[in-house]
Amino acid sequence: MENRTFTMVKPEAVQQGNTGSILKMIEENGFRIVALKKVQLTTARAGLFYEVHKERPFYGELVDYMSSGPIVAVILEKENAVADFRALIGATDPADAEDGTIRKLFAESKSKNAVHGSDSDENAQLESDFHFNIEEQF
Ligand code: RTP
Ligand code: MG
Repeated sequence: MENRTFTMVKPEAVQQGNTGSILKMIEENGFRIVALKKVQLTTARAGLFYEVHKERPFYGELVDYMSSGPIVAVILEKENAVADFRALIGATDPADAEDGTIRKLFAESKSKNAVHGSDSDENAQLESDFHFNIEEQF
């Protein structure tokens, strides 16, 4: 059973030239790229994407950061995609992330943590639809 998840290579990882290395790790771990684009979110769009976190103390910082430069948005497909991708990226804070995870290798800090990964099938669908229309998914 193939499932989908959604990821973004975050601004600091794009800026540091790590997009290719991160996508290579993702493909080598069995994920198929369904959709992909480089885009800069406005603060309004970033605010909407992270609306679930609007009461959290880091919300303002997160929205400013995620709109500070281009991101690479990607839909991925794999069996057990959401959970397997969360395992591949590692803990939110790279200090807690296991060796060999994307965040351990590429994240700068808990805030600038290289990649996003959906936390449920429902959110994967919502986040994919936020960034891509049906003609952009293969
Ligand atoms: P993500 O949604 O980006 O995949 O990350 P996550 O599930 O591991 O973490 P989440 O709790 O959903 O937080 C979303 C993003 O907010 C930033 N954050 N900063 N400074 C802080 O204490 C803090 N906590 C979270 C991170 O960029 C995190 O990925
Ligand atoms: Mg999250």
